[in-house]
Amino acid sequence: FMLFSGTSNPELAEKMAECLDTEPGRVKIRRFKSGEIYIHYEESVRNADVFLVQTMSRPINDHLMELLLMVDAAKRASARSINAVIPYFGYARQEKKDAPREPISAKVVADLLHTVGVNRVITIDLHAPAIQGFFNIPMDHLTALDLMTEYLKKKRIENPVVVSPDAGRAKTAEKLATYLDAPFAIMMKKRPQHNEASITHIVGKVSGRTPIIIEDIIDTGGTIVSVIEGLREKGARAATVCATHPVFSGDAVRKLDHPAIREVVITDTVPTAGKTLPESFTVRSVA
Ligand code: R5P
Repeated sequence: FMLFSGTSNPELAEKMAECLDTEPGRVKIRRFKSGEIYIHYEESVRNADVFLVQTMSRPINDHLMELLLMVDAAKRASARSINAVIPYFGYARQEKKDAPREPISAKVVADLLHTVGVNRVITIDLHAPAIQGFFNIPMDHLTALDLMTEYLKKKRIENPVVVSPDAGRAKTAEKLATYLDAPFAIMMKKRPQHNEASITHIVGKVSGRTPIIIEDIIDTGGTIVSVIEGLREKGARAATVCATHPVFSGDAVRKLDHPAIREVVITDTVPTAGKTLPESFTVRSVA
């Protein structure tokens, strides 16, 4: 097999290669002055099982296009199989129509990958697991839950309660609660607009307990701040926040540096290297 990295998260690709006792293969990725992307594999991929590591971090559309071109180049160079390793699968929050005249963007991404010739997709903690069904090829849907569990067990948090920020995350929260032998609670939220959340009520006892909030994505940080404030109103202690994908748009990092948050545990599916993270942040590698 051969592993190649796109430009979205080379640090993670290096770590993956290290775990596999290999090195990322040589591929030239350049931008023309017009913004168009140029790809050239600098070694043969003929008959190889090619693994392309590309996460959908910002600029998401460029990274997606780069991946599509990498797939096409590998296919035309006679790779035996093309495996797209997409740690953070973007557009997953648009997996169904919530209103008339909207696209199903996650399906468009799946179709694009399929059309260019991807044979397998490997991803982690899809916002909506049903997206697996958008593909008619093998799709390995991995989870960072075991990484989180291992870390949280070591922390020995006293009097914990695992909190799902909404009904959609309830199953994951229930699993984590089982692994940690802790109770769990569910927040009910509504979204007045995109990237805004307001908590309507909480199911479960949180007063006097330390919440462990389990999220898939932190984007603007707005949801987490609403959840934290809702929990504080109900008498909960400072929380530990766990999220797989640190998309961190705008001033998300500053928002999460909050007195009611004692720790933020994230993974490296989206790189945070360019950001200064406060000491309360821990990054676990999914490599
Ligand atoms: C949505 O349901 C997701 O699970 C996250 O709660 C949401 O995408 C986080 O976005 P933000 O950080 O902008 O509130």
